[in-house]
Amino acid sequence: MADSPTRTLQTQRWKACREPRKYSVNVNGAHFNIADLDPQMSLNEYLRSLLNLCGTKFMCYEGGCGACIVVLEYDDPGNTGKRVVKSVNSCLFPIGSLLSMKNSQVTTVEALGSVKTGLNPIQERLASHNGSQCGFCSPGFVMQMYGLLKNNQTPSLQQVEDNFDGNICRCTGYRPILDAMKSFAVEGDSRQKGTLTDIEELKICKKTGQPCLRIGPDETVGCRRSEDGNSALFFKKDGTQWFQPTTLTELFMIIQEHQHDGIKLLNGDTAKGIYRGDGPYSILIDMKGIRELYSVNMDAGGLKVYSNVSLTSLIDYLNEYSSKSQSYSIIADHLSKVASDPVRNSLSYVGILVQLWKHRTYPSSMFVHSEAQGEKLHIMHIVEVMPYVLLRILHVDMFGEVILNVYIPVLSDGESMRTFKVMPRAQNAHAYISAGFRAKIKSKDGNQMVESISMVYTGISQDFVHAVKTENYLQGKDITSEATLQGALATLDKEIIPDEKNPLLTSAQYRKNVALGLFYKFYLSLLSDQIVSPRNRSARSVLHRPISSGKQVFSTRPEEYPLTQPMPTIAAKLQTSGEAAYVNDSLPLPNELYANFVLSTEGNATIDNIDINSAMEVPGAVTVLTAKDVPGSNTFMPLPNEIEEVFCSGNVLYNGQTIALCVADSSDTARQMTSRVKVMYKDVKPPIITVDDAIAKQSFFPPTQDDLIVGDPEGAISKSPFKVEGEIRVGEQYHFHMETQICRCVPTEDGLDVQASSQWLDLLQQAVAGAIGTDAKNINIVTRRLGGAYGGKATRANLVACAAAVAATKLKRPVRCSMSLGTNMKSIGRRHNYLTKYKVGFNKDGTLNGIIFTYYCNNGCSPNDDEVGVSLIFSDNTYKCSNWHIKPIALKTNIPATTWCRAPGSLQNIFFIETVMEHIASYLSLDPIDVKQRNLYAKGDITPLGYPLPYCSIQDLYAALLQKAQVKTRQDAIQDFNSKNRWKKRGLAVCPLKYAMGWVGGCFLCTVTILASDGTVVVSHGGIECGQGLNTKVAQVCAFVLGVPINNISIKPTNNWCSPNSGPTGGSVGSELNCLGVQKSCEILNERIKPIKDKLPPGTPWNEIIMKCFSAGVNLTAQYWVWPEPQPDYAPQYNSYGVTVAEAELDVLTGEHQLSQVDILFDCGESLNPAIDVGQVEGCFVMGLGYWFTEKVIYDLNTGALLTNNTWEYKPPSSKDIPIIFNIELLKDAPNPTGVLRSKASGEPPLCMSSAALFAVKRAVESARAETGQKDYFSLNGPSGIDTIQTSCLVDYKQFSL
Ligand SMILES: Cc1cc2nc3c(=O)[nH]c(=O)nc-3n(C[C@H](O)[C@H](O)[C@H](O)COP(=O)(O)OP(=O)(O)OC[C@H]3O[C@@H](n4cnc5c(N)ncnc54)[C@H](O)[C@@H]3O)c2cc1C
Ligand code: FES
Ligand code: FES
Repeated sequence: MADSPTRTLQTQRWKACREPRKYSVNVNGAHFNIADLDPQMSLNEYLRSLLNLCGTKFMCYEGGCGACIVVLEYDDPGNTGKRVVKSVNSCLFPIGSLLSMKNSQVTTVEALGSVKTGLNPIQERLASHNGSQCGFCSPGFVMQMYGLLKNNQTPSLQQVEDNFDGNICRCTGYRPILDAMKSFAVEGDSRQKGTLTDIEELKICKKTGQPCLRIGPDETVGCRRSEDGNSALFFKKDGTQWFQPTTLTELFMIIQEHQHDGIKLLNGDTAKGIYRGDGPYSILIDMKGIRELYSVNMDAGGLKVYSNVSLTSLIDYLNEYSSKSQSYSIIADHLSKVASDPVRNSLSYVGILVQLWKHRTYPSSMFVHSEAQGEKLHIMHIVEVMPYVLLRILHVDMFGEVILNVYIPVLSDGESMRTFKVMPRAQNAHAYISAGFRAKIKSKDGNQMVESISMVYTGISQDFVHAVKTENYLQGKDITSEATLQGALATLDKEIIPDEKNPLLTSAQYRKNVALGLFYKFYLSLLSDQIVSPRNRSARSVLHRPISSGKQVFSTRPEEYPLTQPMPTIAAKLQTSGEAAYVNDSLPLPNELYANFVLSTEGNATIDNIDINSAMEVPGAVTVLTAKDVPGSNTFMPLPNEIEEVFCSGNVLYNGQTIALCVADSSDTARQMTSRVKVMYKDVKPPIITVDDAIAKQSFFPPTQDDLIVGDPEGAISKSPFKVEGEIRVGEQYHFHMETQICRCVPTEDGLDVQASSQWLDLLQQAVAGAIGTDAKNINIVTRRLGGAYGGKATRANLVACAAAVAATKLKRPVRCSMSLGTNMKSIGRRHNYLTKYKVGFNKDGTLNGIIFTYYCNNGCSPNDDEVGVSLIFSDNTYKCSNWHIKPIALKTNIPATTWCRAPGSLQNIFFIETVMEHIASYLSLDPIDVKQRNLYAKGDITPLGYPLPYCSIQDLYAALLQKAQVKTRQDAIQDFNSKNRWKKRGLAVCPLKYAMGWVGGCFLCTVTILASDGTVVVSHGGIECGQGLNTKVAQVCAFVLGVPINNISIKPTNNWCSPNSGPTGGSVGSELNCLGVQKSCEILNERIKPIKDKLPPGTPWNEIIMKCFSAGVNLTAQYWVWPEPQPDYAPQYNSYGVTVAEAELDVLTGEHQLSQVDILFDCGESLNPAIDVGQVEGCFVMGLGYWFTEKVIYDLNTGALLTNNTWEYKPPSSKDIPIIFNIELLKDAPNPTGVLRSKASGEPPLCMSSAALFAVKRAVESARAETGQKDYFSLNGPSGIDTIQTSCLVDYKQFSL
């Protein structure tokens, strides 16, 4: 094809409509007319709202979580006769674009299989491998795997492991998901081979009930011709026009006609995942229908790729032609780190270029240069290291311009190239720094002379992309000389001046360090081993991550099955098939309304005025509610809690506080209204955000807990031969439940039906009743399951519920209030953050004499979910000390009320004492492993709160894991490695655990009914299934005690009339206490049944026994009220123990690191279900990794606005952040005499050992610091991102040598 039409084409007239356009889309084999819909509507919304295909979930609407993935198939525009099959994020994909793709077909999870008709093997295996806990992420994983297998029925293990860079799972820790998916790999489990073809066979069409066949040509349904005869115009409404040109000629004519309007070209349309508010645009031009732009041509000089080629295809082409140029596989590898597989399937490199042009601070992962060729024609060239074109694109006005292609030249002989992308997380993260280097080196008289060199960076500053001075310096220099290296580094050091204004950027020091370090990597890779010393060769490479694996070891008692049986959760298949329903999957009721919060944009102010006029002008707007509309008490925390307002009545306590609720006939309309509500503020004051600020301003809540003083700590410390003091900090952590806060309220004849996603129905009932001013009896709450909670839905779920209830009551219509991820993150508090100061006295072997802790705990704007008191229980972890003083201080700040987050009060506090042990070991130059071991509790010891430890096994566990994990041998190997490598370091750390499990407050009403008609059993309990496997354990206990098959049991959704007055499902007690309640209920039933059964012949079938009981008037329903005896001072019911050994490897130049191996030995008593408990241990540990490394919460300190409020900036762990070898063992032969059926809890305790990972990295950092002669103690706070870790290594470019 010609490179481009010229602008003379723009003068052509539109041809009359060529052919009727087709407005039907094919979903799961059926055709649907979208002629009347806005083509910008997301495919996700279309599937869920209009086709009721709710198996496809959503969470972020940013392409950042993968919950929404579907598979798209269409005729390949670049290869006639071929089909393209790819997974895409339905949240980003506009439905209109389906029409640009010939014979497109969307496949959703519903088409793969169902529990009733049979599961697809992917769904089956994900369920059977325990890869689904809360299940909210499961359909996304299934579809991502389906997309892979549709393209490649025999993927390798590596391909499978690489496939999930766009899917987040907060529950499982990924290992079981990867295991399930890897069973499809060619190297996978041979017993499961031969089932791959089933994927096609089982694809059932929902409409016909028949297997879906490959679709034929589009049917034309509802064909529509635009009124003005413009064949490229698809949609015109409210000033917005959507065009779908099919040729470049059409494209340029549209641009010509609308050159004065706001034009947006749509390629993948993924940029809105990051820059949501871009626009407004009145002209949207979908480019995907232009076939000419799918061309790819390889010639002697390079690869020309047209702009519609997706990044995935570009990577494939680069790999295909990798023999033509050394750079091609390097660029391909670099591009494969951009976004995630489903996003890359949609986006184009062109979009990335334009992003950089539009948003100069955009941390683009790519280095580009372009070159204009021909008249009025834009042909962009891409080579990662030619900055002048990059600069050019930054300075050219791109409005109305179209990038047609890039030309990727082959490298000439003697040229070398490398690129780097340094990211906060292993996958799917924007770069902190990207760099690209290209050099041509010529041998001359035994020297290696620089003939040319290019050095390009992004992430340094807005204007710095090209290290011109260093390039000039290097020109013609001999790179085998140390002087050249140092000279270049000194020049680079001077010319790199990182931007410091943006709080989201990493520190200037870090970015400079990495910029120099990456250059050093490249420089050394230009030289042979003869020149580079063996220790420095470790600088050249980046960390290599092999395929992950893990062992799960546990014992069971087959004679008690289903008790102790490692079975998948009972809803796993429903979850993997997408049939498990969450609140937002409920079909809309007649007259249903949708609500969206207006949030404050100031952090410490008074509301002056709220103007809703503009919002009410949006068609479909119903009302805007504010504090004055609350008929009852304007608080979502019932007495005796402190008031936390549903809608701010005047005093704004934090940026993000809920001020008003926009209610409309659709969620989209409610969102539009929200952006139009104007809130005016007065008395705006600087918010108190940080712990230090709060301490300085003496902003405290009244103490909720007295100091704990045991013995004479001051005296013991002063008399100790050794003492240290220090401080340590930990940050917040967003719960990141995949299902955001949601509630639907429906007015009924007996009050209000509430569908809540809450961990605590009783509290929610009180809150809702209070807010609408009615009796608790009028509030009927049902909760079937939560899509994750982790403490975030214990008290905080009340906010959405109260707001929806107020709206539903006032409007007398059903109201659904679903928080977007951004709203959820801004308005709801996270894990408490702390500053802890400590003082400790000890002996020369490290044994403890006395400890003083002062905990400054940030409670945010309210003390309601205070945890600093509870922290006393965990302060000692496993360490014996006779003298303690623990001072808990609760800080009041202008952030949302911090709240309980998985292992509250223990994760942080156990980290503090572990830090103290590290500090002691460092001070005494001892191995922390030994110091910790010396201080471990023994059986019968007494904790600071005065509780004896009659069953303490920590010494045995510790010694056992040291041996099993071969710690001494590995430490020797690490020492050897570290001595031989200057720029890669390894470290190993061990963390023991004692977790005091308290049952107090865990009250639950459990009811078991045996149905007389057939003997099946119905259970209702007061716990909430959040993915922790509560229902499965309850069913196992019920089946075991009654002696019936588990299939006979149905666990009903929790509600507040069958299980009223129940406590929160939290603190890990929900599972075991509801098991206890059901066990007791079943025992009551057994007692009632026994007299009848004894009279019947042995072997009488169960259903006949039950019928006889019924006929004899036996009450077949039994209830048990679980009410643990109140205990003084948080006395534990029992203690859980565990040990973790973690080993890490660190790239000293970038701070990137990976966990090579983690071994966990955990005491779960006699596990009720080892598969579930192993899943809890893994999920906990990986959630902890996020807390220690990647999940940084950043505020704008001037306004108090949360800046890390989306998936672009906030990074929970992804599937390649988990340990490469991840071994879990549940302690064998460890019945718990004070637990339920000899078991122990698993939902939270293992999280508290995750800091072992941070300490392992710290050990590696220590080794790097030792190279500089620095052996003093330093601390690593949580989280420590790669920036902190790298700067802690004290690297200076003057240390770089050949
Ligand atoms: C989850 C996620 C992760 C991401 N991670 C990364 C990352 O790691 N590194 C990185 O660099 N980027 C990343 N991105 C951003 C990504 O680069 C952009 O979303 C993407 O480049 C946009 O490409 P697109 O084809 O979807 O463009 P679109 O969204 O369709 O368009 C983007 C802009 O380009 C313009 N445009 C489109 N086509 C043309 C054309 N032919 N000529 C002229 N202008 C045109 C549009 O008008 C628009 O202004 C990520 C995005 C997401 C959603
Ligand atoms: S909802 Fe689409 S990626 Fe998160
Ligand atoms: S199972 Fe993956 S998010 Fe819950």
